[in-house]
Amino acid sequence: MLNYNNPSLTLISSEVRPGAVRWRSPSNIALVKYWGKHGVQLPRNPSVSFTLDGAATDTTLSYSVREAPGEGVEVALYLDGELNKGFTDRTQIFMEKLLPIYPFLKQLSFKIKTSNSFPHSAGIASSASGMSALALCLVSLEEELFEPFKDRAEFNAKASYLARLGSGSACRSIYGGAAVWGTLASLKSSSDEFAVPVTESLHRVFQDYHDDILLISKSEKSVSSRAGHGLMEGNPYASARYAQATRRTDEMLTVLREGNIERFGEILESEALTLHALMMSSHPPYVLIRPNTLAVIERIHQYRADTGMPLYFTLDAGPNLHLLYPNSVAAEVKQFIREQLLYFCEDKMYLADRVGKGPERLEVSEQDLAS
Ligand code: DP6
Repeated sequence: MLNYNNPSLTLISSEVRPGAVRWRSPSNIALVKYWGKHGVQLPRNPSVSFTLDGAATDTTLSYSVREAPGEGVEVALYLDGELNKGFTDRTQIFMEKLLPIYPFLKQLSFKIKTSNSFPHSAGIASSASGMSALALCLVSLEEELFEPFKDRAEFNAKASYLARLGSGSACRSIYGGAAVWGTLASLKSSSDEFAVPVTESLHRVFQDYHDDILLISKSEKSVSSRAGHGLMEGNPYASARYAQATRRTDEMLTVLREGNIERFGEILESEALTLHALMMSSHPPYVLIRPNTLAVIERIHQYRADTGMPLYFTLDAGPNLHLLYPNSVAAEVKQFIREQLLYFCEDKMYLADRVGKGPERLEVSEQDLAS
């Protein structure tokens, strides 16, 4: 097990000047799903995802020396310019969990400004982009206040580790292209504690793959992912599922390397349906897909049968569909979406996205430096 605990990371307060760091970090879409966890945010099975491009969180972390150092962490979080009590509490709990790793967090006062590129009401989970952006800010902060990292890989591994503690799927957002989280015998560098990039071995066809997100319902979902992971512990199919996900992550890596888009689609769709079947077979059972989710799935199957287009769907833990397809068929598929699928989306909304290059460190404004 990795041990990042470091009691020596404390500051001489009189030497610290106020400052700020800022990162934009994208969301990701799992191709093979993480569903089930144990211990301290450790996955029951490996997963692999594409990192997205447009759907992202922009976070600025400003800090100054705390007037009266206390036990916990002093932080206020502003979402789209407004103080947000719920996110402030969640962030404070997260940062306090990090105190053995970063004892200096107690010595500073933090203001976090965050915004998402997608509307908050869109029903898209922001935990992967949000937690990865915050983790990247914290690791940059460490680098500013203490020693620089040996190299980018070391920096990224730590950011991914911290992001995982905030939200499991967030650890995969640290890398552009595709990332694997969870130990896999065939991938030496893989770990349950952080994600690793598999971008280098991504076939050309997947490098600019599209992912259009159809917003079937923007309502808050009735069962959180955290509760869903918990219910896997009593699920009668759990052990077979974990073995299947391990095999599939392995196979998906071969598929991503070879550019086999038909097999890619088969695994992708089965993963989506398996995830929701696991929810339906939990105790108590629950259903997150909506009638319109099924209507769209049927139309995609029909479209594929009629045209042979390599258009496949996946689902997260909710009713919205991600439609994945290669750039070479983008014009035809977008026409199909507009003409036949938007009807099933709430307010006819969808977000056009694609595989992205990963997080980006941004300049901070003068105003953020001063506050
Ligand atoms: C269905 O990462 O949101 O999207 O670790 O409790 O924060 P926590 O869960 P979360 O679970 C995401 C599950 C998923 C599949 C995936 O992204 O792999």
